[in-house]
Amino acid sequence: MIPNGIYGHYAGPVGVGAPIFFDTAFGSHFTDIDNNTYIDWMCAYGPMILGYGHPAVEKAAADQAARGNTVSLASPVLVELAEQLVDMVDGVDWALFGKNGADSTNLAVMVARAATGRSKVVKIDGGYHGTSGWMQEPDRPGVAAGERDQVISIAWNDAAALKQAIADHDVACFISSPYHHPVLADNEQPADGYWAEVETACRAAGVAIIVDDVRAGFRLDLAGSHAHYGFSPDLVCFGKALGNGHPIAALTGTDSMRQAAMDVFYTGTQFFSAVPMAAAVATLRELLVIGATDVMTDVGRRLSAGLVDLANAHGFDLVVSGSPAMPYYRIADPSLARREAFAQHSRWIKACVQGGAYLLSYHNNFVSVAHTDDDIATTLDIADRAFGSLRT
Ligand SMILES: Cc1ncc(COP(=O)(O)O)c(C=O)c1O
Repeated sequence: MIPNGIYGHYAGPVGVGAPIFFDTAFGSHFTDIDNNTYIDWMCAYGPMILGYGHPAVEKAAADQAARGNTVSLASPVLVELAEQLVDMVDGVDWALFGKNGADSTNLAVMVARAATGRSKVVKIDGGYHGTSGWMQEPDRPGVAAGERDQVISIAWNDAAALKQAIADHDVACFISSPYHHPVLADNEQPADGYWAEVETACRAAGVAIIVDDVRAGFRLDLAGSHAHYGFSPDLVCFGKALGNGHPIAALTGTDSMRQAAMDVFYTGTQFFSAVPMAAAVATLRELLVIGATDVMTDVGRRLSAGLVDLANAHGFDLVVSGSPAMPYYRIADPSLARREAFAQHSRWIKACVQGGAYLLSYHNNFVSVAHTDDDIATTLDIADRAFGSLRT
């Protein structure tokens, strides 16, 4: 009845021999329908940042639900959330809301086009922004040729390629995650001076800078990942963690983009649902109180350091890339071809999952503030046995 069964981004983990359906989820754990419990380092691909069923978030959501959710009018919580985001996020003056990250990346590109009167979008090779036509890889079916013709794809950390694209085309915007977190490849930080060079090139040509912070948002810096790296985009997209699992995404922007944001037509039947907005207000408040990025960075650093030590003890080389709260792992083995090395890495991940630590083989993992010292210690025990199993 469901084409592909578990489809889209939830299909991947199933491929490594993981459980398929959850029964319950609480804090940093979920339990599958066969009653096996896992420490969740996938965090639903990012939305879970405070822990499943977080009391303050769920109370805010329940209180709002008792008053109404999708109603014929907006709720004042819309304004509260916009004010809170504008207060928190560095350099932005307004916010608009949708449901999924792609709502905000699509809107960001529309706003940039409206602001510049140009159409072309420069993105990064392997950069993911959702599944609309312009975001799809060129070889995927179901996309009109003209949609991809509007997109120029360049390598990460290549400011010269960006300048060339701007010189050669009618570029409206440059869209990129704050650091490069592709699938199936080590994640890469910006080179020294990269974002400053991007800023200079885009400002000189009137090209809008869009930061897609849908995945990394609130895990590097609560003021937005651009604050972490020290640059000033025109538009910043959030999603995933914003509502701790409640469906909400946001586009924030500077005053220079405000008129364009007013000119474009953007809406959705569920965009004004108040429960996810109340959940988001509570999530942001809680993240601020906890000082969440420091907590997650520390947990991620300790988990990664422990895994690297274990790998060494078993004679493996575990490469850690990305950001501490979103670590990407790869067992490097120069004696193996890339495919075999990945197969070996996947066997290790599968053994971790079967042992009760839900890690991802081909994608960055996610740390939450709900992960405890016990979770780290238990994960390291599981990973130890998993490394051992690779030698048998
Ligand atoms: C960086 C980035 N941008 C955009 C998206 C799209 O978000 P959504 O799947 O919520 O539409 C994702 C989803 O994984 C993402 O990682």
